[in-house]
Amino acid sequence: MTIRAVVRGVGHYLPSRVVPNAEFEALVDTSDDWIRARTGIERRHFAAEGETTSDMAARAAEAALADAGIAADSIDAILLATSTPDLTFPAAATMVQRKIGASRAFAFDVQAVCAGFVFALANADALILSGQARRILVIGAETFSRILDFTDRGTCVLFGDGAGALVLEAAEGTGTPADRGILATDLNTDGTHQDLLYVDGGVSTTGTSGQLRMQGNQVFRHAVEKLAATGHAALDRAQLTSADVDWIVPHQANLRIIAATAQRMQVPMEKVVVTVQDHGNTSAASIPLALSVGKARGQIHEGDLLVTEAIGGGLSWGAVVLRW
Ligand code: UT7
Repeated sequence: MTIRAVVRGVGHYLPSRVVPNAEFEALVDTSDDWIRARTGIERRHFAAEGETTSDMAARAAEAALADAGIAADSIDAILLATSTPDLTFPAAATMVQRKIGASRAFAFDVQAVCAGFVFALANADALILSGQARRILVIGAETFSRILDFTDRGTCVLFGDGAGALVLEAAEGTGTPADRGILATDLNTDGTHQDLLYVDGGVSTTGTSGQLRMQGNQVFRHAVEKLAATGHAALDRAQLTSADVDWIVPHQANLRIIAATAQRMQVPMEKVVVTVQDHGNTSAASIPLALSVGKARGQIHEGDLLVTEAIGGGLSWGAVVLRW
């Protein structure tokens, strides 16, 4: 018998404040045209004052539980992918546990920046396959607006806030790629590229939370090359090929990266879920947001083969192949 981690529900939350590109024209030397042409981003959401990562994560988790028809107190574990937690500790996942009443669940954060949701999914899969948990909430939630330098046009126009969540549950499979659930994962890190994308503050250095710094064009180069490679590696591991893919659900950083990766993976853009125009780059939240929006749009259906892939600070990158 093969155990699979199967998706039972999905949900998301976006803060109510929508920030169109034009708002940045008053802050830095940029234009709506430049941002649209170079990134595909048209607008993003920013959290309200006092609205935290765990607030948004809890709303997304409740939406995913409602979609699954599963009660919060039957959840065994909560994994929250975030680089913008409410506090240095405890983990924001513990605040979500309290807010949604998931009293039986153990809870911890996963920090792999924009690749965080992929890393969290792979860890949740491992917990389910090893029998340590049967039902897991896997959440991605970020308030990147709090770590942006609004004088740096190369970064402040790119990011947004939001949250998305999945409910995973152990189910019996046949051990073939026809099974529903997570079929393969591929995780990677190269810590030599820290200077390309990092936050210039932290607990044991400056004692501040710091601001995001990025050499965008260098990250771009790594992204296109590494995302296609990790996507192929995960498909190989699942004994599948690009021809089997119904949807790529990529990290939403830049439409040009998304398109170039799809081309390298030989998957047409009609099979790619794109939300970057509405959300910007929400880091670890972008994939679960795209999964939730993709389902709500009627794109993703039960039985579809999905590849999710992401890269971010570290550099860390990876992919998950799953049948919805
Ligand atoms: O999610 C984590 C992973 N992060 C990413 O995947 C982000 C990857 N990088 C990118 O998406 C792109 O590199 C950017 C959107 C950040 C930048 O696009 P680019 O085509 O790589 O531009 P560039 O950095 O090579 O800069 C080209 C020019 C520069 O001006 P000069 O030196 O040619 O005069 C920049 O200063 O564009 C300028 N520029 C801007 N101009 C108007 C940079 N940001 C802006 C801006 N508005 N907001």
